[in-house]
Amino acid sequence: MNYETSTATVLTAAEPIRDRVIAPRKILIVEDDQEAAAMLVELLRGEGYGVDAVGSAEEAIERFRVETYHLLLTDLLLPGKSGVELTKLVHEACPATAIVLITGHATVKTAVTALKRGANDYLRKPVAPKKLIERVSALVEARPDYLPNKLLAVGRSGEVNFEGMIARSRVMHNVFEKVKLASQADATVLITGESGTGKELVARAVHQRSQRHAGAFIAVHTGALPRDLIASELFGHERGAFTGATERKEGKFELADGGTIFLDEISTMDERTQINLLRVLESFTYMRIGGKKERAANVHVVAATNRDLSKMVEEGTFREDLFYRLNILQINLPPVRERREDVALLAHEFLQHFARVYRKPVEVVPAGTQRLLEAYHWPGNVRELRNVVEQAVLLARGRTLDPELLPQMIYRAGPSEETIRIPLGTSMDAAEKEVILRTLEARQGNKKLTAEVLGISRRSLYNKLAEYGYGRFGDGLDDN
Ligand SMILES: Nc1ncnc2c1ncn2[C@@H]1O[C@H](COP(=O)(O)OP(=O)(O)OP(=O)(O)O)[C@@H](O)[C@H]1O
Ligand SMILES: [Mg+2]
Repeated sequence: MNYETSTATVLTAAEPIRDRVIAPRKILIVEDDQEAAAMLVELLRGEGYGVDAVGSAEEAIERFRVETYHLLLTDLLLPGKSGVELTKLVHEACPATAIVLITGHATVKTAVTALKRGANDYLRKPVAPKKLIERVSALVEARPDYLPNKLLAVGRSGEVNFEGMIARSRVMHNVFEKVKLASQADATVLITGESGTGKELVARAVHQRSQRHAGAFIAVHTGALPRDLIASELFGHERGAFTGATERKEGKFELADGGTIFLDEISTMDERTQINLLRVLESFTYMRIGGKKERAANVHVVAATNRDLSKMVEEGTFREDLFYRLNILQINLPPVRERREDVALLAHEFLQHFARVYRKPVEVVPAGTQRLLEAYHWPGNVRELRNVVEQAVLLARGRTLDPELLPQMIYRAGPSEETIRIPLGTSMDAAEKEVILRTLEARQGNKKLTAEVLGISRRSLYNKLAEYGYGRFGDGLDDN
């Protein structure tokens, strides 16, 4: 599919997703009675708050792993963990988040317990709308700008949005660190990774972070050009240089002067262009076709490929000398199936984005949908995930992204599969990670059971999960 011209890109290209870690004044409602929840959502949204709603304490905790709220409004009696337990957890992890309990069964005793555990207020059912809004808005307005959230599962650097790239996994945070390095030097960068993993975003991030950010970012995909036009596209030509060259033309290297040139899918570059490029990378000069003057190539060269170039070198289909010239700083983007902990975060981000674009009221990724998304192997990586969420948002009728809205291949595969496939050639570390995460999934996130099944101590399991960027959730959360 030619993604570049799909309606999805056209509709959304002007609106990059960025810098939206904490939305202003957000409220999370925890209420298992759907009708009551809908009423609260409507009421508070009418007051201009960003409102999410879930049906259990466990789902609320999941929400706090990807989002920070100014206020938590929770029912006291919930199907699993109680509102009081949730209060205690959230209060410890997010001390600046206000907590209000709603209960139909309030005795003075439970209310006092809840207040002791960190709740700011409690209201009895049925709640009078006016009173609710009064109490809630007083608390929300009094919140500080920065709301600490220890549950937020993020990588080492603590960022979940880096130049428009959303991730919390440790592997992606290593990528971000490399992008920072690459942007500080002018050394040639080679970005590798499967299709749809975000290579172009990385290239743009390198440019954006560098001293050249005021210059142009010029992307070229030589493989997509007719062969006899490539040299002229890259280096430009003088008038009359060849038949049809009626005007002088600036090449991409010239257009990128002072900025960055992004050579996309470098593996498709033909032999002659490879030689030309090598010459530029050796001298950082070039000539327009038909020209006599050497020109300085004042550009940062960033190349990308989804093929294994070193293998192509071995097979003799890519020039070895050019490979070494390009491969000075390599940034490898891991496929999504090796960073499943990013899936929920990405899905939520895309959901909000497309809900806005298509003006749909969808806002919740329920646990069932999340589990299916996390279990799928994503051959098309982030691009595929983005497309799947876009389609589901278009099909959605209510506020939740129900599992049935997912394509059959994802919906049917389900996370309940009792076998996993690990391709030959997988490293021990990657295989171990796959086994651990898939077992955890199959045991519905129960770490005690997972550790037992895997025959490792709970401590080793926590250490592994922390290594994968899931963080230590602490505060009693580890006990399930
Ligand atoms: N970490 C991320 N956060 C948010 N969006 C992402 C992320 N990674 C990729 N995307 C989105 O996924 C899509 C594919 O990304 P991109 O075009 O950078 O991938 P690519 O590796 O260049 O793919 P290809 O090999 O097919 O050219 C884009 O819409 C991009 O915005
Ligand atoms: Mg690309």
